[in-house]
Amino acid sequence: MTQNLADTSRPAADATAHEAGAGADRGWWRDAVIYQVYPRSFADSNGDGMGDLPGIRGRLPYLRDLGVDAVWLSPFYASPQADAGYDVADYRAVDPMFGTLLDADGLIRDAHALGLRIIVDLVPNHSSDQHEWFQRALREGPASPLRDRYHFRPGKGGNGELPPNDWESIFGGPAWTRTENPDGTPGDWYLHLFAPEQPDFNWDSPAVANEFRSILRFWLDMGVDGFRIDVAHGLVKAPGLPDLGGADQLKLLGNDVMPFFDQDGVHEIYRGWRKILDEYPGQRIGVAEAWTPTVQRTANYVRPDELHQAFNFQYLGTSWDAAELRAVIDLSLDSMRPVDAPTTWVLSNHDVTRHATRFANPPGLGTQIRTPGDRALGLRRARAATLLMLALPGSAYVYQGEELGLPDVTDLPDEVRQDPSFFRQAGQDGYRDGCRVPIPWSGTEAPYGFGPTAGGPSWLPQPAEWAALSVEAQTGDPTSTLELYRSALAVRKARPDLGAGTGVEWLDAPEGTLAFRRGSFVCTVNTTGTPVRIPAPGRPLLTSAGADPETVDGQAVLAADSTDWWAV
Ligand code: NOJ
Repeated sequence: MTQNLADTSRPAADATAHEAGAGADRGWWRDAVIYQVYPRSFADSNGDGMGDLPGIRGRLPYLRDLGVDAVWLSPFYASPQADAGYDVADYRAVDPMFGTLLDADGLIRDAHALGLRIIVDLVPNHSSDQHEWFQRALREGPASPLRDRYHFRPGKGGNGELPPNDWESIFGGPAWTRTENPDGTPGDWYLHLFAPEQPDFNWDSPAVANEFRSILRFWLDMGVDGFRIDVAHGLVKAPGLPDLGGADQLKLLGNDVMPFFDQDGVHEIYRGWRKILDEYPGQRIGVAEAWTPTVQRTANYVRPDELHQAFNFQYLGTSWDAAELRAVIDLSLDSMRPVDAPTTWVLSNHDVTRHATRFANPPGLGTQIRTPGDRALGLRRARAATLLMLALPGSAYVYQGEELGLPDVTDLPDEVRQDPSFFRQAGQDGYRDGCRVPIPWSGTEAPYGFGPTAGGPSWLPQPAEWAALSVEAQTGDPTSTLELYRSALAVRKARPDLGAGTGVEWLDAPEGTLAFRRGSFVCTVNTTGTPVRIPAPGRPLLTSAGADPETVDGQAVLAADSTDWWAV
């Protein structure tokens, strides 16, 4: 067993560490491991059942010790929480349920002192319907100049009773909701690609563009190291908002450029933002959440004068299959090389079924899975998938709780669900609460250290089995998933050749397996359900399986569904 044998010592965290992480000359983000904190579910300092900024602040040393480089925080802004904070009412305020601006300031400062960077979420495609602009636009009626900051349109039909076009909301149902005029008569409609409580901004309005430049500066002045840009592909809509001409539009997502997604006009916005980011010291970055038809189109978002990274959702959607994985790895690396941007790798986030549960189920079920599947198999593959991800060149994203091997909670009762898509007809999402359950830290009774008091509340219920998966329960157990992550991140820090570069050298490997070299390092992956023998590539460094591969007559036996790291 080689876990825990890696040197876990880190340079003392200080301002220099913050300014000059690994590869700082080329950009710290190029090989960074970035940990996603979902504030509602990370740590609750005041016992109200909802995570908060002081809770996160108190747990920063855990993240430093885990070995990540940066922390991305999902939204904590003032919000009615119609979509768990992705409906922002005030972009410059912290919602009282999460704390105060002072808490945000303290969190950023503490993180920097620990050598961690902070990335905040920016939601520029839509605001909350409670945003002051939208409320005034409604109150002031059709003549309001603020209506131009959103997409208000008269309806079709004899009395305007039909939506202005046929677009559907990602969360299900029409993408339009009709307003009521101040005198009580039925009024114009407004566009919302997501929930009705999330009206889309009109990015042709100079007021919108100016406001977001100012919001960027507000948070950059607060010291944040970057932004994860929500729905980065959605800001610009095709002129005239043309009909799509068909039902089932969500199935089209990912295959074609839609009149509301991945329009070429978005790139001008990011070129402007890049200039602002570059004005600030310390390499501040922008990360695009851009669902595009192809990886090549994703690369457009990270051209040298645009953003720094874009999530690689094609990788997230790939099954546990050697040939498919190799194809998507090659495609991802090949697509990013011409624009000199790092590839990113991501397996889980707050919108998709956790990968331990995806891999526990048959392939092809998508990202809103409602069956637990074969848990042991899922965990074995999840651990192997993580070691593969962390051996690839580029930047990797870790979603809170995946380091504990958490499965999705697939049996949440309907009455506790909060995903807005769950309450609408036939949306793309709907079961995202399953990956948002508060994470277990310690103890034997819920909320397992998520909140300060045993028996206290948590906004979604945690399964009883999670006592055994807590940070406390896994710490020091060399077979635990938490120690696997700690060891892997320590090895990655000690061997910069893992994350660096833009390519891998594929080695011959039997069907169902992968083998590639990166400098003095080899990674082997067995995606099959049976052990496979290969010529031993070197000395075992780390394994996702229970024990190092057995070596017999120079042949290494790769365990079923495992990844091994080797020093050569
Ligand atoms: C993507 C976010 O990750 C998701 O949680 C949210 O519902 C939509 N964008 C809308 O903001």
